[in-house]
Amino acid sequence: MARKIIAAIADSTLFLREWLVNPQRTGAVAPSSPKLAAAMARWLPRDPESYVLELGPGTGAVTAALIKRGLREDRLVAIEHNATLAKLLRKRFPHAHIITGDAWHLDQLLRDRVPPIPSVGAVISSLPLLNFSKEEAEALAAKIRSVLDPRGRWVQYTYQISKHRSRGADDFRLLASQIVWLNLPPARVSVYQK
Ligand SMILES: C[S@@+](CC[C@H](N)C(=O)[O-])C[C@H]1O[C@@H](n2cnc3c(N)ncnc32)[C@H](O)[C@@H]1O
Repeated sequence: MARKIIAAIADSTLFLREWLVNPQRTGAVAPSSPKLAAAMARWLPRDPESYVLELGPGTGAVTAALIKRGLREDRLVAIEHNATLAKLLRKRFPHAHIITGDAWHLDQLLRDRVPPIPSVGAVISSLPLLNFSKEEAEALAAKIRSVLDPRGRWVQYTYQISKHRSRGADDFRLLASQIVWLNLPPARVSVYQK
């Protein structure tokens, strides 16, 4: 228990430091709470062989919830822009595919894996889409559409809790949407399908 608390404080400190360096990109002052991470992880694909693509994993709060929920580490591909955070994630999840890169290049990054990953059963995104323009968010959504299995899901959280639809998601079908109050700040998790 004490070890868990120390690890949580260390992650929060690291996160805050990265936010001070680049608030726009980091997008939050603290990692997601266990409640928010669990709300995201509920939407794993049923097929255990499916790949799951995580965008903006940060210090791994949502990543850990995905693994806890049953996702095999070797089926997880995570794209994190911040090299310091990606290095930490590689230590924490040694069997996962942790890519230091830009989520906007996700299609190319999946193709570049050896062997290439043609599609994924879910995209779990913590990207701070509100810090990007509508056009940028729509470009990302188009990339997500191009790699998502026909029945795959795109799970996205936002701090703009009054809106059900995330920026850029207009062309997707909204499957579910819930507010998670126990997070700093409260967040809305929305789930989309093609
Ligand atoms: C709001 S934080 C979420 C972190 C973590 N998933 C959580 O919920 O605690 C957003 C994360 O997205 C990353 N990020 C921002 N822009 C990115 C991009 N273009 N490509 C990949 N990651 C990006 C940031 O570095 C940060 O780690």
